[in-house]
Amino acid sequence: MIPIARPQMGEEEKQLVWSALESGALAQGARVRELEERFAAFIGVPHAVATSSGTTALHVALMAHGIGPGDEVVTVPFTFIASTNAILYTGARPVFVDVEPDTFNIDPRLIEAAISPRTRAIMPVSLYGQPADMDAVTAIAERHGLAVIEDACQSHGAAIGERRCGTWGTGIFSFYPTKNMTTGEGGMLTTGDPALAERARLLRDHGMKVRYHHDLLGWNFRMSDIHASIGLGQLPKLPANNARRREVAGRYDRALRGVVRPVVRPGVTHVFHQYTIRVHRRDEFVERLRERGVGTGVYYPIPVHRQTPYVELGYGDQSFPVSERLAEQVVSIPVHPALSDADVEAVIAAVNETAAELGPIAAEAALPA
Ligand SMILES: Cc1ncc(COP(=O)(O)O)c(C=O)c1O
Repeated sequence: MIPIARPQMGEEEKQLVWSALESGALAQGARVRELEERFAAFIGVPHAVATSSGTTALHVALMAHGIGPGDEVVTVPFTFIASTNAILYTGARPVFVDVEPDTFNIDPRLIEAAISPRTRAIMPVSLYGQPADMDAVTAIAERHGLAVIEDACQSHGAAIGERRCGTWGTGIFSFYPTKNMTTGEGGMLTTGDPALAERARLLRDHGMKVRYHHDLLGWNFRMSDIHASIGLGQLPKLPANNARRREVAGRYDRALRGVVRPVVRPGVTHVFHQYTIRVHRRDEFVERLRERGVGTGVYYPIPVHRQTPYVELGYGDQSFPVSERLAEQVVSIPVHPALSDADVEAVIAAVNETAAELGPIAAEAALPA
């Protein structure tokens, strides 16, 4: 079976973890600081703050922006639930707007209608490795005096022109094992604002700058030096791994038939955390690919506003037709750097044979405008 994801650990990661274990310095320390500095330099921002996960980094970001009860954050329902759960953790409410059918990212044309006097921030999600339209989002945020918190958990190294995800407003990354780079579990906040970075550092560590002097109510959202050691081994490999993902995606773009292929906006560097196609009869499609030895993933089968906790909060009656349609059609195929050229050819054959058997998606692809 060709898996949908396969984390790759080399000698570098093993040596770094081993030396961290031998040093006895296991919790947040010098290795975390080093990963923060290197990641900030890679993204192109002055400050990066490491946390225990992408979810806790999102939570810290919202709190560092002072977002809390009574506030609203404009975001999308077509995402991993962590994006919007983090908003709920603060006591604020997510206000959803739909996504674009071709890029799967926030539709900037819909944002202004969702802004109210209670809105504090816009949280675009750069999904699957493609930056959201960050210039459009930032322009709207500036007009309305709102913060921009980009959920770039799937977009390490993705860029618009030369500018990388995580450099507009506050950026958030996840280092979960399936991501383009991993620390096992972990997250990172990136920002150009030194005061925001300082608040984030306090919030992730019990509000503590001087040992056992607690300046505010904080949390234990720290990354350990063991996890940071994995990241220090992974980060130098990220550019080559992203390049290989893009090469495989290019091969798919040229060869796949009878499915809707992902659309990359002009001028954008998509890093293909996922290569996500749209098909009809998806359950059969997934099953036939499995029979042909190809693993797949469905990210995500239910839009957030239709997930139980959100239905209980009253979001269930809202309608986001593009997100709802995409949730029925999307399926991701393996695009990770561990694929051999033979694997790539096997995936292409499996997708094309299955699409030919089930019929092309064309008619179903028409999405509400
Ligand atoms: C879009 C998005 N947001 C948030 C998260 C949360 O990250 P984590 O799993 O590291 O908490 C993830 C990753 O899982 C994600 O893909």
